[in-house]
Amino acid sequence: MSMKIEYHEYDVLVVGAGGAGLNAAQVASQYVKTAVISEVYPTRSHTISAQGGISASLGNLEPDNWHWHMFDTVKGSDYLCDQDAAEFLCRKAPEMIIELEHIGLPFNRTPEGKIAQRPFGGHTAEYGKRPVKRACYVADRTGHAMLQTLFEKAVAQGTQFYSEFYALELIRNDNRVCGVLCMNIQDGTLHLFHAKAIIFATGGNCRIYETNSNAHINTGDGLALALRAGFSWADPEFFQFHPTGIYGHGNLITEGVRGEGGILLNGKGERFMERYAPTIKDLAPRDIISRAMVKEVLAGNGVGPDKDHVLLKIDHIGKEAIMEKLPGIHELALVFAGVDCTREPIPVMPTAHYQNGGIPTNYLAEVIKGYGEDGEEVYPGFYAAGECAANSVHGANRLGTNSLLDLVVFGRTAGERAAKFAKENEIADLPENAGEKGVKILEKFANSNGKYTFGPLYKELTTLMQNKAGVFRTEELMTEAVKELDDIEDKLSDFKVVDKSTVYNLDLIEALELNNMVTVSKVAAKAALLRKESRGGHSREDYPERDDVNYLKHTNAVLSGDGKSIEITYRPVRLKPLTVETFPPKPRVY
Ligand code: FUM
Repeated sequence: MSMKIEYHEYDVLVVGAGGAGLNAAQVASQYVKTAVISEVYPTRSHTISAQGGISASLGNLEPDNWHWHMFDTVKGSDYLCDQDAAEFLCRKAPEMIIELEHIGLPFNRTPEGKIAQRPFGGHTAEYGKRPVKRACYVADRTGHAMLQTLFEKAVAQGTQFYSEFYALELIRNDNRVCGVLCMNIQDGTLHLFHAKAIIFATGGNCRIYETNSNAHINTGDGLALALRAGFSWADPEFFQFHPTGIYGHGNLITEGVRGEGGILLNGKGERFMERYAPTIKDLAPRDIISRAMVKEVLAGNGVGPDKDHVLLKIDHIGKEAIMEKLPGIHELALVFAGVDCTREPIPVMPTAHYQNGGIPTNYLAEVIKGYGEDGEEVYPGFYAAGECAANSVHGANRLGTNSLLDLVVFGRTAGERAAKFAKENEIADLPENAGEKGVKILEKFANSNGKYTFGPLYKELTTLMQNKAGVFRTEELMTEAVKELDDIEDKLSDFKVVDKSTVYNLDLIEALELNNMVTVSKVAAKAALLRKESRGGHSREDYPERDDVNYLKHTNAVLSGDGKSIEITYRPVRLKPLTVETFPPKPRVY
């Protein structure tokens, strides 16, 4: 290898600075020397765009308990979630909210000073009987407030930040992960981070879809790196389409709008969710609402000249309530849809929002093998948390507000476990060829001078994923998708990065990201083709029913051969909770 590489050594290395990465880092930093590398300045991570809230059965406004929360999480996941992890998540939730409050998260309050809570899709009382107020929130900027709070805490704990560092290779030595090769985007220099324990908190990949609610950085880089290093991706076929993306743009309009009383209307002015989910109506889980919206449009009940979207009406709750609890969506609707939602409805359609699967872990955020007889075996010193991980609390479909909860619960757990591991273990040796793979990929694109450039190829990829592996899927379309993705991959060998500079070369970064997006799209499409049932966010028109006999199992994907082939196997869902208590539990009394 000819390029000069700067060496850094830490006890714990966190890759990614969203909610999961920052919570992991602030915890690990309390015990051991910890660094975070992040593609963007930490407070620009995608967590910032989480709007509506974080779930916890505090029961501040009405009775609630973690059993009901767990029931909703398991049911919402269409039974694909691991129930030990779901119990861990829901039991930990109230204490996490108190912890966040104590480190400074400025939650909205009830008149008597308790943390305020609002209803959210799929969250119910008494096992599905009625919606419950479970989402704690900071207006409609909950993720923003959380990110700032956790960043300040991590800085105060002495976490070392390497911002605008782009990860190129996850380095492993047999069973141990031992480092990450990065490029400093500011000047193009290379850096090798050698660490005793590594936490991946690299976020999701919904930018592979044409219409999405995701930040520019959500290109599946962490997943692609993990796959190339021989790790697995669990349940890659499951994506969540959030029902209310701004029509034509995809930006998120929080479910909190419906939590505060907003309703969906079709072109005939009908509140159509009354037909699809008579009990919880507009607060049904997202997969159900997204499909209902598409069905309304396909039935000719859409709005606008092309009858291709529906409306979200919120003006009836009054301007004062909107400006107090939903100021962010008021601004977004004005800027992106040209609509003042205190007076008019917002045009909306489903938008790709969340990757449900990820790097497989157990409920302690320890990365597991994911396949074979020893599928539950842990890779020592490797942890994953947040959207890039599958612990798997979300299964086939995540409930709104369970993602911010997932970030902090499993971020904290990963930070604790990694710090403990680093204290008890020596650093693993780097292999002789450490970083070579990453440098090779970097050089391939940096020196590329072929025919295809980022813009058109990215458009080709995202249109393909949207139309052939989107809300509704069929054998025919996905077979085409798998083949066409191979063609797009071939075009990457005839690619051109126009900018040859080393300073903030975003043309080069986009090329590397596109390379990763093609890898993750290929895996997602192949897994989707092989799952011949409908479950959660995976809706097959040719197999419309859930098939528990054949498919109540996690998909597990790994790259094989030259790294272009994909092997898919399956692993049982962990259906046993951590503890089994007498049901029904007593609600908390106030
Ligand atoms: O609708 C929302 O505010 C999104 C929340 C979530 O994805 O958890």
